[in-house]
Amino acid sequence: MTVFLGLCCAAFATHATAAVLKMTCRAKGQELTLCKQAVQQWEKKTGHTVEIVSLPQSSSESFALTQQQLSAHASDVDVYQVDTTWVSFLSTHAVPLDAHFSAQELAAHFPVILQNNTVNGTLIVAPWYADVDMLFYRKDLLEKYGESPPTSWEDLLRIAQKIQENERASGHVRLWGYIFRGKAYEGLTCHVVEWIESFGGTLWPLDTDRVIQAFAFCARLIPTTSPMGVLSYTEEEVRGVFQLGDAVFAHNWPYMWTLTQSEESPVKGKVGITVLPQGQLHGKPASVLGGWGLCVSRYSNHQEAAIDLVRWLTRSEEQHRRALQASYCPTIHALYQDPVLCAAHPFFVHVARALETVVLRPAGAFGRSYSQVSASIANVTQKVLLKAITPEAAAQKLDQDMKTLHKRVTETPATQRATGQ
Ligand code: GLC
Repeated sequence: MTVFLGLCCAAFATHATAAVLKMTCRAKGQELTLCKQAVQQWEKKTGHTVEIVSLPQSSSESFALTQQQLSAHASDVDVYQVDTTWVSFLSTHAVPLDAHFSAQELAAHFPVILQNNTVNGTLIVAPWYADVDMLFYRKDLLEKYGESPPTSWEDLLRIAQKIQENERASGHVRLWGYIFRGKAYEGLTCHVVEWIESFGGTLWPLDTDRVIQAFAFCARLIPTTSPMGVLSYTEEEVRGVFQLGDAVFAHNWPYMWTLTQSEESPVKGKVGITVLPQGQLHGKPASVLGGWGLCVSRYSNHQEAAIDLVRWLTRSEEQHRRALQASYCPTIHALYQDPVLCAAHPFFVHVARALETVVLRPAGAFGRSYSQVSASIANVTQKVLLKAITPEAAAQKLDQDMKTLHKRVTETPATQRATGQ
């Protein structure tokens, strides 16, 4: 770009003000490709250039990097791809976006996402895509064994075990019943909230009885229906194992769908998707609100161009393209009625319904301490999965950890909270 400008600035006057921006973008599934494609269109349209910095796969690691940059008030990144739970932290580092979207544009998004991305009445993060965990299952195997998709966890375990045992006996020795994101990171925290809510409880404030029930369920998984290796699985390991055909059920985000249906996928045409099962008595199928948005750094030297880029990437046409090509779920509700998307992804009907009832992680309650809370949730849960702690002791430990952190949050002077010190 620099060379191009040097040679051509007289002929292409508009390029004289062309900026070089930097944006972070995730590399999970097809995200990086999608991001690059859209950015290239914007570059062509505006004459600006964007350097894409790829983020680590894990949300927790991506947060650490983003936090480092913004806390140092670094001006080198202009636009950040940011997770649902980072909004409190971002509130003092990101440019308010309300004024750059019309009321109509804003009203097009699911209210829960807009609320999540707004702090004290100010929109901090532009919604880009939503995530809700789904249950992926092997349609062909369930049919072979005369089973329907499970609606309760108990049923899931029964079906998982039955198919696993029978298929192993007929030679598919690597088949597992149920896989999920068991590594100690944000992805496991999402599951924990879902398991607890599906038993009718809440994680914060912690509902001891229901948390014990959910943990008791977790303690039954390894090695009966889930491999020990699940403790190191993030999204992509779950997808990899399921896509190879080595799992009956997988608990993961919708981006996995298009990849499992690709030409080279061994499970193409054999996959079903439904809402997550529920716990026995008082439960409900519950999915947490996941998804990513875009924010503009207050320390950017190219805020105007950066805001234009964010508008371009989050607009309806682009959300449609991403949804069609790679099943990233739109944040714009009208797109769930789009005939092309509905035909390509019939399960979007479940996603839209789930988005009406999603559960939030306790990021709002813990603000800037959320990452510590999340780490404690994931670490305690790993111990439960390993049966290194009883469900009762785990619930107690989690309650203590969360109460200690919450006390610290509420005792921090407001001024300090606002500046993030
Ligand atoms: C997905 C979700 C995000 C969540 C992360 C956990 O990327 O969109 O909200 O925090 O997974 O791994």
